[in-house]
Amino acid sequence: MSEQITREDALTREGYRHACHIMLHGDSSAKLFGKIPIKHIVLMQMRFDGLLGFPGGLVNPSKETLEAGLSRELHEEVGVAVPVGVDNHVSTSLSPSCPQLITHFYIKKMTEAELKEIERAAVAAATDHGLEVLGMVRVPLYFLKNGGGLPYFLSHSFISNSRAQLLSALQRCGLLSQGELEKAVRQAEQMRR
Ligand code: GTP
Ligand code: MN
Ligand code: MN
Ligand code: MN
Ligand code: MN
Ligand code: MN
Repeated sequence: MSEQITREDALTREGYRHACHIMLHGDSSAKLFGKIPIKHIVLMQMRFDGLLGFPGGLVNPSKETLEAGLSRELHEEVGVAVPVGVDNHVSTSLSPSCPQLITHFYIKKMTEAELKEIERAAVAAATDHGLEVLGMVRVPLYFLKNGGGLPYFLSHSFISNSRAQLLSALQRCGLLSQGELEKAVRQAEQMRR
């Protein structure tokens, strides 16, 4: 796990760049194959570099607040300027992969209709679509036979510490139990061998 610091401490440090990313999620009543409840929609994206990550990006705190910068990045990457506040902030870390980068993570719960509108706008309106962002993806939170669902999803490659951000956010929001998360991580580990 990467080193955590407070949002306030981060803003006093000099010589660091800041990046803000967010997990947009919400409840859903839809059923896969008409029988497996998907329960929750959790949005990530396929990035230009082939890695999975959350929407968001670099923010310059001397020119904009972290949250206004994140909202600007969302407008570029998903085509909707989703309002984000300090109350959506959950953690700030020193990037494990990029020296002199501080990553701020946010979570926002939305309605199923709002999330579907974001998925449409990400294709129809986002200026980054097909460029820096290859597409929004939903995270499968269920378990199918032979590791299908969340274990296979976790076996893909993720940018920086976004995989750890996903796992801690799923736990924090109570979208999966501790036991389910451990099972998914264990099965994903076996696939990567
Ligand atoms: P440009 O518009 O090209 O500048 O990209 P961007 O502003 O959208 O930046 P990007 O989203 O690539 O994020 C900047 C840096 O933050 C990346 O180089 C990664 O090191 C890191 N990063 C990207 N996505 C995530 C994420 O989901 N979680 C975390 N923790 N870090 C990320
Ligand atoms: Mn089908
Ligand atoms: Mn961007
Ligand atoms: Mn980005
Ligand atoms: Mn940017
Ligand atoms: Mn850009």
